[in-house]
Amino acid sequence: MQIKKVCCFGAGYVGGPTMAVMASKCPEQLFVVYDINQQQINKWNNKQYPVYEENLDEYINQTIGKNLIFTCDIDLALKDCDIAFLAVNTPSKQFGMGAGSSLDISYIDSCIQDIKQYTLTKKLILVEKSTVPIKTCDYINAILQNKNICVLSNPEFLAEGTAIQDLLNPDRVIIGGPIESSKQLASLYEQWIPKDKIIFTNIYSAELSKIVANSFLAQRVSSINSISIICDKIGADVNEISQCVGSDTRIGNKFLKTSVGFGGSCLKKDLLCLIYLCESLQLDEVAQYWKQVYLLNEFQKQRFINLIITSMFNSLKNKIIVILGVSFKAKTNDTRESASLIIIKKLQEEQAILRIYDPQGKIDNIEQYQSLDGIFQGASAIVILTEWEEFIKIDYSQAFNQMAKPAYCFDGRNLLSGDLMKSLGFLYYGLGRV
Ligand code: UDX
Ligand code: UDX
Ligand code: ADP
Repeated sequence: MQIKKVCCFGAGYVGGPTMAVMASKCPEQLFVVYDINQQQINKWNNKQYPVYEENLDEYINQTIGKNLIFTCDIDLALKDCDIAFLAVNTPSKQFGMGAGSSLDISYIDSCIQDIKQYTLTKKLILVEKSTVPIKTCDYINAILQNKNICVLSNPEFLAEGTAIQDLLNPDRVIIGGPIESSKQLASLYEQWIPKDKIIFTNIYSAELSKIVANSFLAQRVSSINSISIICDKIGADVNEISQCVGSDTRIGNKFLKTSVGFGGSCLKKDLLCLIYLCESLQLDEVAQYWKQVYLLNEFQKQRFINLIITSMFNSLKNKIIVILGVSFKAKTNDTRESASLIIIKKLQEEQAILRIYDPQGKIDNIEQYQSLDGIFQGASAIVILTEWEEFIKIDYSQAFNQMAKPAYCFDGRNLLSGDLMKSLGFLYYGLGRV
């Protein structure tokens, strides 16, 4: 079967950029991105992308109106479609059994119902792109009961802020499921990705690999954060430890930056999903092992809050605190699960006066500064929560002069030189550094 038409359910963080890059690399195929949310579709069609990603506009401009369509019309999406991706959100379930840890697949459910009700005229390859609980493929097959639909798992590994780069040049593409359909899906990717990067697996392995990959990433951040806590106690420097340990090629040097805690919509969600899976399989020891990764992350955030409050003599009321960064990491506007959310909340509880700035990220219902102009005037403390490069370039000497004294700096990303900040007069606190 020659693939001519591809559709995608969900025009969000995953669906939009993924289809834009695919459309640009596969000019012979038509890509239709379908969403139930008309506003979301309008944004894509009117150059007000709901997602901020470097170079995204370039890929949309190249393809929109040619072989890329954003629509709310399900008929336009499914008619004569060969491959349908499921890229709808699968948040943590908020109710009933597994609340807070299991994934909520109700959005997947409604896509499956749409497909079931649609009269397909040819064979359809249905691809799980969103992160889904293990064995969702069996669940989908049980609902559809249609031999003309073949379900595959092809998890997405793009990270926010580098989405386009990750899509253009992924470390690997995983395709799980019956081999004939898997090869057909692979034929799309082979138009720009070397064949040896495409890994064929059974469908459960593909589903599990996504959750495991994100749990391993979370584990690395918690591992280095746990070491930062030891460093604080003994006077070692966690940045030096990262370098020393990471230069062992068996360990590798990525994801060893200590931080105020990992955030984002995926790491915590997928980690909790793995823990829930272990619990539901009655694998308590394994569940406990992964649970500790999660708990350490919560502890790291709380530890940072305690550091701020105790260093400032538990007297933050009416003091001005400048918060630099609300996005969960640099180069994204996304604030979901960002450590900044809880830190801001706790500082508000202390009745501090917060001046919040982020070049991209916005938190609902909280007033933010649009620029750094005047933000340091009279402030008692600077709290760095996101590693934006812009924050390195600030003239901290000038900031110090404008601030109340003593002037504190709490660097939740080890972004600045502690020695330099101290030499300017700041009471500087990093993570795991003397
Ligand atoms: C280790 C360190 O690797 C070395 O750098 C240090 O100087 C001494 O301790 P060693 O104990 O000789 O070296 O063996 P290593 O290759 O690290 O293996 C340790 C154990 O882990 C072995 O039982 C090995 O079978 C097991 N292992 C290793 C696994 O089960 N899976 C793996 O993927 C790797
Ligand atoms: C993650 C995975 O990386 C990606 O492959 C998957 O498809 C989606 O989930 P993302 O959530 O966009 O991507 O961000 P990621 O780069 O993984 O960062 C997650 C969090 O960990 C951020 O808050 C980041 O600041 C933090 N982090 C990362 C650290 O604290 N230290 C590090 O060394 C790396
Ligand atoms: P992700 O990070 O997984 O891409 P997002 O929340 O950014 O998640 O995007 C998911 C998109 O899926 C949203 O735009 C939402 O409107 C859309 N969506 C949810 N349910 C359906 C559905 N049944 N059919 C089509 N689109 C859907």
